Amino acid sequence: MRVKKINDNVWSVGAIDWDRRIFDEIVPLPDGTSYNSYLIRGSEKTALIDTVDPHLENDLLSNLNDLKVKKIDYIISNHAEQDHSGVIPTILEKYPEAKVVTNEKCKNMLIDLLPINENKFIVVNDRETLSLGDKTLEFMLAPWVHWPETMFTYLKEDKILFSCDFLGSHLATSDLYADFNDFRIYEDAKLYYVEIMMPFKRFFAKALDQVEKLNPSIIAPSHGPVYDKPEFIINLHKQWISDEVKNEVLLFWVSMHGSTKEMVDFFEKELIKRNIGVKKFNLASADASRLTMSLVDAATLVLATPAVLGGAHPAAVYAAYLTGVLKPKLKFASVIASYSWGSKIVDQIKGLMNNPKWEILEPVLSKGIAKKETYDDLVRLADEIEKKHKAEGIL
Ligand code: FEO
Repeated sequence: MRVKKINDNVWSVGAIDWDRRIFDEIVPLPDGTSYNSYLIRGSEKTALIDTVDPHLENDLLSNLNDLKVKKIDYIISNHAEQDHSGVIPTILEKYPEAKVVTNEKCKNMLIDLLPINENKFIVVNDRETLSLGDKTLEFMLAPWVHWPETMFTYLKEDKILFSCDFLGSHLATSDLYADFNDFRIYEDAKLYYVEIMMPFKRFFAKALDQVEKLNPSIIAPSHGPVYDKPEFIINLHKQWISDEVKNEVLLFWVSMHGSTKEMVDFFEKELIKRNIGVKKFNLASADASRLTMSLVDAATLVLATPAVLGGAHPAAVYAAYLTGVLKPKLKFASVIASYSWGSKIVDQIKGLMNNPKWEILEPVLSKGIAKKETYDDLVRLADEIEKKHKAEGIL
Protein backbone atom coordinates (compact mmCIF):
# COMPACT_ATOMS: atom_id res chain seq x y z
CA MET A 1 0.00 0.00 0.00
CA ARG A 2 1.43 3.37 -1.02
CA VAL A 3 -1.35 5.56 0.35
CA LYS A 4 0.04 8.45 2.42
CA LYS A 5 -2.08 10.64 4.63
CA ILE A 6 -1.43 14.38 4.23
CA ASN A 7 -4.18 15.77 6.48
CA ASP A 8 -7.52 14.56 7.80
CA ASN A 9 -9.35 13.12 4.80
CA VAL A 10 -6.60 14.12 2.35
CA TRP A 11 -4.35 11.38 0.94
CA SER A 12 -1.67 10.94 -1.66
CA VAL A 13 -2.78 7.96 -3.79
CA GLY A 14 -0.51 8.13 -6.84
CA ALA A 15 2.14 5.83 -8.27
CA ILE A 16 5.93 5.71 -8.00
CA ASP A 17 7.83 4.97 -11.21
CA TRP A 18 11.19 3.78 -9.85
CA ASP A 19 12.60 2.53 -13.14
CA ARG A 20 11.64 5.12 -15.70
CA ARG A 21 14.77 6.71 -17.14
CA ILE A 22 13.43 8.95 -19.87
CA PHE A 23 10.33 11.09 -20.29
CA ASP A 24 8.83 11.98 -23.68
CA GLU A 25 11.87 10.14 -25.07
CA ILE A 26 13.98 13.24 -24.39
CA VAL A 27 14.01 14.23 -20.70
CA PRO A 28 16.48 12.15 -18.66
CA LEU A 29 15.10 10.85 -15.35
CA PRO A 30 18.18 9.80 -13.34
CA ASP A 31 16.07 9.17 -10.24
CA GLY A 32 12.82 7.93 -11.78
CA THR A 33 9.63 9.87 -11.12
CA SER A 34 6.17 9.67 -9.59
CA TYR A 35 2.69 10.53 -10.81
CA ASN A 36 0.95 12.01 -7.81
CA SER A 37 -2.78 11.79 -7.44
CA TYR A 38 -4.66 13.01 -4.37
CA LEU A 39 -7.95 11.97 -2.79
CA ILE A 40 -10.00 14.41 -0.74
CA ARG A 41 -13.03 13.24 1.19
CA GLY A 42 -15.35 16.09 2.12
CA SER A 43 -18.36 15.61 4.38
CA GLU A 44 -20.58 15.43 1.27
CA LYS A 45 -18.45 14.78 -1.80
CA THR A 46 -15.22 13.04 -2.72
CA ALA A 47 -12.72 14.41 -5.23
CA LEU A 48 -9.73 12.84 -6.93
CA ILE A 49 -7.09 15.31 -8.09
CA ASP A 50 -5.44 14.12 -11.30
CA THR A 51 -4.63 10.46 -12.05
CA VAL A 52 -1.42 8.66 -13.04
CA ASP A 53 0.44 7.51 -16.12
CA PRO A 54 -1.58 4.73 -17.75
CA HIS A 55 1.11 2.05 -17.34
CA LEU A 56 0.74 2.39 -13.54
CA GLU A 57 -3.05 2.49 -13.55
CA ASN A 58 -3.26 -0.53 -11.23
CA ASP A 59 -1.29 1.27 -8.52
CA LEU A 60 -3.86 4.05 -8.39
CA LEU A 61 -6.78 1.61 -8.44
CA SER A 62 -5.25 -0.49 -5.69
CA ASN A 63 -4.65 2.63 -3.54
CA LEU A 64 -8.29 3.65 -3.96
CA ASN A 65 -9.28 0.12 -3.06
CA ASP A 66 -7.12 0.23 0.09
CA LEU A 67 -8.93 3.39 1.16
CA LYS A 68 -12.26 1.64 0.41
CA VAL A 69 -13.34 4.40 -1.94
CA LYS A 70 -16.82 3.46 -3.11
CA LYS A 71 -17.75 6.71 -4.79
CA ILE A 72 -15.86 9.52 -6.50
CA ASP A 73 -17.93 12.59 -7.33
CA TYR A 74 -15.31 14.71 -9.00
CA ILE A 75 -12.10 14.03 -10.92
CA ILE A 76 -10.21 17.30 -10.96
CA SER A 77 -8.00 17.55 -14.03
CA ASN A 78 -5.34 20.22 -13.57
CA HIS A 79 -3.53 19.35 -16.80
CA ALA A 80 -4.38 17.33 -19.90
CA GLU A 81 -1.01 15.63 -20.44
CA GLN A 82 -1.47 11.90 -20.26
CA ASP A 83 0.89 11.21 -17.34
CA HIS A 84 -1.83 12.83 -15.20
CA SER A 85 -4.98 12.42 -17.26
CA GLY A 86 -4.40 9.02 -18.86
CA VAL A 87 -6.38 7.03 -16.29
CA ILE A 88 -9.43 9.34 -16.23
CA PRO A 89 -11.36 7.03 -18.63
CA THR A 90 -10.74 4.03 -16.32
CA ILE A 91 -11.81 6.00 -13.24
CA LEU A 92 -14.97 7.05 -15.08
CA GLU A 93 -15.67 3.40 -15.83
CA LYS A 94 -15.14 2.30 -12.22
CA TYR A 95 -16.92 5.30 -10.72
CA PRO A 96 -19.61 6.10 -13.32
CA GLU A 97 -21.20 8.88 -11.26
CA ALA A 98 -17.94 10.92 -11.37
CA LYS A 99 -17.68 14.14 -13.36
CA VAL A 100 -14.45 15.59 -14.72
CA VAL A 101 -13.92 19.10 -13.38
CA THR A 102 -11.59 21.31 -15.38
CA ASN A 103 -11.34 24.55 -17.35
CA GLU A 104 -12.66 24.97 -20.89
CA LYS A 105 -9.27 24.70 -22.60
CA CYS A 106 -8.31 21.58 -20.67
CA LYS A 107 -11.70 19.99 -21.39
CA ASN A 108 -11.17 20.43 -25.13
CA MET A 109 -7.68 18.98 -24.93
CA LEU A 110 -8.89 16.00 -22.89
CA ILE A 111 -11.56 15.32 -25.51
CA ASP A 112 -8.85 15.41 -28.19
CA LEU A 113 -6.50 13.12 -26.29
CA LEU A 114 -8.76 10.62 -24.52
CA PRO A 115 -12.05 8.83 -25.03
CA ILE A 116 -14.15 10.98 -22.65
CA ASN A 117 -17.69 11.98 -23.51
CA GLU A 118 -18.42 15.72 -23.45
CA ASN A 119 -21.34 15.24 -21.03
CA LYS A 120 -18.94 14.02 -18.32
CA PHE A 121 -17.43 17.49 -17.82
CA ILE A 122 -18.06 20.32 -15.39
CA VAL A 123 -16.25 23.44 -16.65
CA VAL A 124 -14.83 25.86 -14.10
CA ASN A 125 -13.38 29.36 -14.42
CA ASP A 126 -10.51 31.09 -12.69
CA ARG A 127 -11.11 31.44 -8.92
CA GLU A 128 -14.33 29.45 -9.07
CA THR A 129 -14.95 27.21 -6.04
CA LEU A 130 -16.45 23.78 -5.60
CA SER A 131 -17.80 22.59 -2.25
CA LEU A 132 -17.17 19.06 -0.99
CA GLY A 133 -19.15 19.85 2.19
CA ASP A 134 -16.68 20.76 4.90
CA LYS A 135 -13.89 21.23 2.35
CA THR A 136 -13.71 23.72 -0.52
CA LEU A 137 -11.70 23.56 -3.72
CA GLU A 138 -10.69 26.75 -5.51
CA PHE A 139 -9.39 26.63 -9.09
CA MET A 140 -6.69 28.96 -10.35
CA LEU A 141 -5.81 29.13 -14.03
CA ALA A 142 -2.04 29.04 -14.55
CA PRO A 143 -1.51 28.94 -18.31
CA TRP A 144 1.81 27.85 -19.82
CA VAL A 145 3.36 26.10 -16.88
CA HIS A 146 3.87 24.23 -19.06
CA TRP A 147 0.85 23.76 -21.33
CA PRO A 148 -1.75 26.40 -22.19
CA GLU A 149 -4.55 24.75 -20.19
CA THR A 150 -2.74 24.18 -16.86
CA MET A 151 -4.44 25.14 -13.61
CA PHE A 152 -3.92 24.74 -9.86
CA THR A 153 -6.42 23.50 -7.30
CA TYR A 154 -6.35 24.94 -3.80
CA LEU A 155 -7.90 23.18 -0.85
CA LYS A 156 -8.85 26.24 1.17
CA GLU A 157 -9.50 24.86 4.65
CA ASP A 158 -6.25 22.83 4.68
CA LYS A 159 -4.24 25.45 2.76
CA ILE A 160 -2.93 22.77 0.37
CA LEU A 161 -2.04 23.80 -3.17
CA PHE A 162 -2.20 21.03 -5.79
CA SER A 163 0.08 22.59 -8.38
CA CYS A 164 0.29 19.76 -10.93
CA ASP A 165 3.59 19.96 -12.91
CA PHE A 166 4.45 23.36 -11.42
CA LEU A 167 7.13 23.09 -8.67
CA GLY A 168 7.40 19.36 -9.28
CA SER A 169 10.49 17.20 -9.62
CA HIS A 170 11.22 13.87 -11.24
CA LEU A 171 12.15 11.87 -8.16
CA ALA A 172 10.91 8.44 -7.16
CA THR A 173 10.78 8.31 -3.38
CA SER A 174 8.75 6.53 -0.75
CA ASP A 175 8.81 9.72 1.37
CA LEU A 176 5.67 11.81 1.24
CA TYR A 177 7.49 15.04 2.11
CA ALA A 178 10.75 16.37 0.70
CA ASP A 179 13.66 15.23 2.85
CA PHE A 180 15.97 18.23 2.85
CA ASN A 181 18.95 16.05 3.78
CA ASP A 182 18.63 14.26 0.45
CA PHE A 183 20.75 16.17 -2.12
CA ARG A 184 18.50 14.83 -4.90
CA ILE A 185 15.69 17.12 -3.69
CA TYR A 186 17.67 20.11 -4.94
CA GLU A 187 19.14 18.52 -8.08
CA ASP A 188 15.98 16.89 -9.35
CA ALA A 189 13.96 20.07 -8.82
CA LYS A 190 16.56 22.04 -10.77
CA LEU A 191 16.72 19.52 -13.58
CA TYR A 192 12.93 19.51 -13.77
CA TYR A 193 12.84 23.31 -13.88
CA VAL A 194 15.36 23.59 -16.72
CA GLU A 195 13.83 20.88 -18.85
CA ILE A 196 10.13 21.52 -18.35
CA MET A 197 9.63 25.07 -17.12
CA MET A 198 12.59 27.26 -18.13
CA PRO A 199 11.29 27.84 -21.68
CA PHE A 200 8.21 29.43 -20.07
CA LYS A 201 10.10 31.61 -17.57
CA ARG A 202 7.81 34.65 -17.93
CA PHE A 203 4.66 32.61 -17.24
CA PHE A 204 6.49 30.71 -14.53
CA ALA A 205 7.39 33.95 -12.72
CA LYS A 206 3.76 35.08 -12.82
CA ALA A 207 2.51 31.77 -11.42
CA LEU A 208 5.22 31.77 -8.73
CA ASP A 209 4.15 35.21 -7.63
CA GLN A 210 0.53 34.00 -7.48
CA VAL A 211 1.57 31.03 -5.31
CA GLU A 212 3.69 33.17 -2.99
CA LYS A 213 0.77 35.52 -2.38
CA LEU A 214 -1.50 32.56 -1.70
CA ASN A 215 0.92 31.44 1.03
CA PRO A 216 -0.08 27.76 1.14
CA SER A 217 0.96 25.55 4.06
CA ILE A 218 1.64 22.62 1.75
CA ILE A 219 2.49 22.39 -1.96
CA ALA A 220 1.53 19.07 -3.48
CA PRO A 221 2.79 18.80 -7.07
CA SER A 222 2.09 15.96 -9.47
CA HIS A 223 5.69 14.72 -9.65
CA GLY A 224 8.10 14.10 -6.80
CA PRO A 225 7.74 14.85 -3.11
CA VAL A 226 5.24 17.12 -1.39
CA TYR A 227 6.58 20.28 0.30
CA ASP A 228 5.46 20.96 3.86
CA LYS A 229 7.91 23.89 3.90
CA PRO A 230 6.86 25.61 0.67
CA GLU A 231 9.34 28.47 1.12
CA PHE A 232 12.17 26.02 0.28
CA ILE A 233 10.94 25.25 -3.20
CA ILE A 234 9.59 28.76 -3.83
CA ASN A 235 12.91 30.40 -2.93
CA LEU A 236 14.92 28.01 -5.08
CA HIS A 237 12.78 28.81 -8.09
CA LYS A 238 12.96 32.55 -7.37
CA GLN A 239 16.73 32.26 -7.62
CA TRP A 240 16.58 30.23 -10.85
CA ILE A 241 14.18 32.61 -12.62
CA SER A 242 15.99 35.75 -11.47
CA ASP A 243 18.15 37.68 -13.94
CA GLU A 244 21.25 36.96 -11.88
CA VAL A 245 23.93 34.94 -13.68
CA LYS A 246 27.11 33.34 -12.37
CA ASN A 247 30.66 34.17 -13.36
CA GLU A 248 30.78 30.95 -15.31
CA VAL A 249 31.54 29.83 -18.88
CA LEU A 250 29.96 26.66 -20.17
CA LEU A 251 32.31 24.96 -22.61
CA PHE A 252 30.29 22.51 -24.67
CA TRP A 253 32.78 20.82 -27.00
CA VAL A 254 33.28 17.91 -29.35
CA SER A 255 36.40 16.98 -31.29
CA MET A 256 37.16 14.42 -34.01
CA HIS A 257 40.94 14.50 -34.55
CA GLY A 258 42.01 16.58 -31.57
CA SER A 259 42.30 20.09 -33.13
CA THR A 260 39.16 21.42 -31.43
CA LYS A 261 40.12 19.72 -28.15
CA GLU A 262 43.49 21.44 -28.20
CA MET A 263 41.85 24.85 -28.60
CA VAL A 264 39.30 24.09 -25.89
CA ASP A 265 41.96 22.95 -23.41
CA PHE A 266 44.00 26.09 -24.03
CA PHE A 267 40.91 28.29 -23.73
CA GLU A 268 39.81 26.63 -20.50
CA LYS A 269 43.17 27.49 -18.90
CA GLU A 270 42.93 31.10 -20.10
CA LEU A 271 39.51 31.43 -18.46
CA ILE A 272 40.62 29.87 -15.17
CA LYS A 273 43.65 32.19 -15.13
CA ARG A 274 41.19 35.10 -15.18
CA ASN A 275 39.19 33.68 -12.24
CA ILE A 276 36.27 32.76 -14.47
CA GLY A 277 34.46 29.56 -13.50
CA VAL A 278 34.38 26.85 -16.18
CA LYS A 279 31.99 23.93 -16.66
CA LYS A 280 33.29 21.78 -19.46
CA PHE A 281 31.21 19.09 -21.17
CA ASN A 282 32.45 16.74 -23.88
CA LEU A 283 29.31 16.41 -26.00
CA ALA A 284 30.29 12.89 -27.05
CA SER A 285 30.02 11.55 -23.51
CA ALA A 286 28.55 14.20 -21.18
CA ASP A 287 25.82 13.34 -18.73
CA ALA A 288 22.75 14.94 -20.34
CA SER A 289 21.21 15.89 -16.96
CA ARG A 290 24.30 17.73 -15.71
CA LEU A 291 24.85 19.47 -19.03
CA THR A 292 21.24 20.69 -19.17
CA MET A 293 21.25 21.77 -15.51
CA SER A 294 24.36 23.87 -16.10
CA LEU A 295 22.31 26.15 -18.35
CA VAL A 296 20.28 27.55 -15.45
CA ASP A 297 22.88 29.91 -13.96
CA ALA A 298 25.84 30.51 -16.31
CA ALA A 299 26.58 33.89 -17.88
CA THR A 300 28.31 32.58 -21.02
CA LEU A 301 28.25 29.60 -23.34
CA VAL A 302 31.05 28.73 -25.76
CA LEU A 303 30.30 25.93 -28.17
CA ALA A 304 33.35 24.26 -29.73
CA THR A 305 33.06 21.99 -32.73
CA PRO A 306 34.89 20.66 -35.75
CA ALA A 307 33.32 20.98 -39.19
CA VAL A 308 31.41 18.00 -40.53
CA LEU A 309 30.25 18.27 -44.14
CA GLY A 310 30.59 22.04 -43.96
CA GLY A 311 28.50 22.49 -40.81
CA ALA A 312 28.92 21.82 -37.09
CA HIS A 313 29.31 18.31 -35.69
CA PRO A 314 25.81 16.78 -35.13
CA ALA A 315 26.44 16.65 -31.35
CA ALA A 316 27.09 20.41 -31.40
CA VAL A 317 24.03 20.97 -33.59
CA TYR A 318 21.89 19.17 -31.01
CA ALA A 319 23.45 21.12 -28.12
CA ALA A 320 22.88 24.43 -29.91
CA TYR A 321 19.29 23.54 -30.72
CA LEU A 322 18.57 22.37 -27.17
CA THR A 323 20.08 25.55 -25.74
CA GLY A 324 17.98 27.63 -28.11
CA VAL A 325 14.67 26.00 -27.18
CA LEU A 326 15.35 25.90 -23.43
CA LYS A 327 15.96 29.68 -23.45
CA PRO A 328 18.46 29.98 -20.58
CA LYS A 329 19.28 33.41 -19.16
CA LEU A 330 22.78 33.46 -20.73
CA LYS A 331 24.18 36.89 -21.48
CA PHE A 332 26.94 35.94 -23.93
CA ALA A 333 27.68 33.16 -26.41
CA SER A 334 30.45 32.32 -28.82
CA VAL A 335 31.84 29.58 -31.02
CA ILE A 336 35.22 27.90 -31.36
CA ALA A 337 35.61 25.82 -34.49
CA SER A 338 38.16 24.05 -36.60
CA TYR A 339 37.64 23.22 -40.24
CA SER A 340 39.56 21.97 -43.23
CA TRP A 341 37.70 23.69 -46.01
CA GLY A 342 34.69 26.05 -46.21
CA SER A 343 32.48 26.24 -43.11
CA LYS A 344 29.08 27.67 -42.27
CA ILE A 345 29.39 26.64 -38.63
CA VAL A 346 28.96 30.05 -37.03
CA ASP A 347 25.81 30.99 -38.96
CA GLN A 348 24.39 27.53 -38.37
CA ILE A 349 24.96 27.67 -34.59
CA LYS A 350 23.62 31.21 -34.34
CA GLY A 351 20.50 30.15 -36.25
CA LEU A 352 19.94 27.17 -33.98
CA MET A 353 20.42 29.20 -30.79
CA ASN A 354 18.11 31.82 -32.20
CA ASN A 355 18.13 34.11 -29.17
CA PRO A 356 18.47 37.80 -29.93
CA LYS A 357 19.06 38.58 -26.23
CA TRP A 358 22.47 36.90 -26.05
CA GLU A 359 25.39 38.95 -27.24
CA ILE A 360 27.43 36.86 -29.65
CA LEU A 361 31.13 37.42 -29.05
CA GLU A 362 33.55 37.20 -31.99
CA PRO A 363 34.09 33.45 -32.66
CA VAL A 364 37.46 31.77 -33.06
CA LEU A 365 37.88 29.73 -36.23
CA SER A 366 40.94 27.71 -37.14
CA LYS A 367 41.69 26.29 -40.56
CA GLY A 368 43.33 23.01 -39.61
CA ILE A 369 45.30 22.78 -36.38
CA ALA A 370 45.59 25.78 -34.09
CA LYS A 371 48.39 28.21 -35.01
CA LYS A 372 49.81 31.28 -33.28
CA GLU A 373 46.95 33.47 -34.62
CA THR A 374 44.42 30.95 -33.28
CA TYR A 375 45.91 31.08 -29.77
CA ASP A 376 45.96 34.89 -30.00
CA ASP A 377 42.28 34.80 -30.92
CA LEU A 378 41.49 32.51 -27.99
CA VAL A 379 43.29 34.90 -25.63
CA ARG A 380 41.29 37.76 -27.18
CA LEU A 381 38.01 35.85 -26.56
CA ALA A 382 38.99 35.08 -22.96
CA ASP A 383 39.86 38.78 -22.45
CA GLU A 384 36.53 39.81 -23.90
CA ILE A 385 34.61 37.44 -21.63
CA GLU A 386 36.55 38.76 -18.63
CA LYS A 387 35.64 42.32 -19.62
CA LYS A 388 31.99 41.42 -20.12
CA HIS A 389 31.73 39.56 -16.82
CA LYS A 390 33.32 42.51 -15.01
CA ALA A 391 30.84 44.86 -16.67
CA GLU A 392 28.03 42.59 -15.43
CA GLY A 393 29.42 42.91 -11.91
CA ILE A 394 29.93 39.17 -11.53
CA LEU A 395 33.75 39.12 -11.63
FE1 FEO B 1 3.66 15.76 -15.85
FE2 FEO B 1 3.03 18.00 -18.29
O1 FEO B 1 2.89 16.38 -17.42
